[in-house]
Amino acid sequence: MNSLVILISGRGSNMEALLEAALPIENIIVISSNPNAGGLEIAKTRRIKTLIVDHRTYPDRASFDAALAERIDRYQPDLIALAGFMRVLSDSFVNRYQGRLMNIHPSLLPAFPGLNPHKSALQEGVRIHGCTVHFVTSQVDHGPIVIQAAVPVLPDDTEETLAARVLQQEHRIYPQAVRWFMEGRLKFSFNRVEVSKPTICKTILFSPGLQK
Ligand code: GAR
Repeated sequence: MNSLVILISGRGSNMEALLEAALPIENIIVISSNPNAGGLEIAKTRRIKTLIVDHRTYPDRASFDAALAERIDRYQPDLIALAGFMRVLSDSFVNRYQGRLMNIHPSLLPAFPGLNPHKSALQEGVRIHGCTVHFVTSQVDHGPIVIQAAVPVLPDDTEETLAARVLQQEHRIYPQAVRWFMEGRLKFSFNRVEVSKPTICKTILFSPGLQK
């Protein structure tokens, strides 16, 4: 029986994309580090079990991570998906779930890890931006990449318009990555991820486009 724990801290749109995707998963539990996370309501509406592990009630990272791990282990999940989970996790937490802890980040990693990736992308003047699903290592927003999607940065973009364009792609690639995992199609090879029989996209993306 496939089971998934989704960790959230806020809005929960990536969580919702996972819930909507009809993934081959029998048991889904949502855990929030924030009692006011909007995603909790979305999960409840969908009759998904929710738990809160409020990070503010723990004196330090180690005790929060231990409490979180204790809740997670009750469900013996195959995979733990960070979906807008805005806590830095300790090395011992990351090591405990090595190979079954995934994250989505709104940039083409390794570019722009951490906070405000859209602002950084605009400041740097990149022409192409995007999002990444990767396995988690102890380095924040870093680790073996499963799938990425790219979007153009348009001349009149603001952080908001760029974030919205990227978010649309996040909602496509995260369910895909979790589906591959649950179907047993992801394999580690020299710290890289191999996907068995993926659809290969051979299109080249230019931004701005080429002119004759
Ligand atoms: C998403 O854009 C996600 O990629 C990002 O937070 C947002 C959460 O939105 N995660 C990170 O920045 C992780 N470093 P959501 O709650 O609507 O999914």
